Amino acid sequence: MYKGFLHTHYLVVTLFLVIYVIKTILLLSNKNDLLQTFTKKVKVIEMIVSSLFLITGIYLITQTPLGGAYDHLLWIKLGMVLVSIPLAVIGFKRHNKILAALSLLLITGSFGLAEVYHKKKAVAAPANTHSEVAMNGQSLYEANCKVCHGSDGKAMLSGAPDLTATALDKNQIKDIILNGRNLMVKVNVSDTEADLISDYVLNSIKGK
Ligand code: HEC
Repeated sequence: MYKGFLHTHYLVVTLFLVIYVIKTILLLSNKNDLLQTFTKKVKVIEMIVSSLFLITGIYLITQTPLGGAYDHLLWIKLGMVLVSIPLAVIGFKRHNKILAALSLLLITGSFGLAEVYHKKKAVAAPANTHSEVAMNGQSLYEANCKVCHGSDGKAMLSGAPDLTATALDKNQIKDIILNGRNLMVKVNVSDTEADLISDYVLNSIKGK
């Protein structure tokens, strides 16, 4: 659903810009007759495109997780789009080249800003920072291992050994988690999760 809206948004924004650029060029080069014909020809398409532009844009904004460091870029972008619309309407109506050009500048600028926003956001989103790993490992351990080994690893329930005294390395622990051993049945977690849990056992439980 989100992807569909995003692709539609990109498509209609591109169409919108193409129409806009052509109109502005015609206006700036004094081809007023051509401009009139072109405007008439694309009138319906333009109406559909700009409605879709707004609908998909509003939907995407409601789906954007706010609260990031780059939110202001999003608001500036929105402001630029909103200001450019009346400028364009007045500019083309009165054949005012400065207003029309300014409006096009704002629209393309907001397009560029949107790109910057998404790039910055992608960079800002941390790929498993250290504390996140520790937290995930811990919550996975609590959910899957605590019943027998206890939060501190010392519970030794159901015949489980004391994990604080384990001599195993990471791969051996992972192997036990994923495949089980004797009395310990295998635990239903993914390879990555087993990785996180093993790190947690070695870094936060062993030796405590
Ligand atoms: C149902 C109880 C139970 C659960 C749940 C459980 N274990 Fe165990 N675990 C055991 C038992 C019993 C053994 C001893 C197995 C044996 O005798 O070989 C054991 C052994 C181990 C060992 C070997 C320790 C050593 O030094 O030889 C490790 C490491 C271990 N468990 C880690 C985990 C982790 C991590 C989880 C969670 C992902 C987990 N276990 C979940 C019961 C459990």
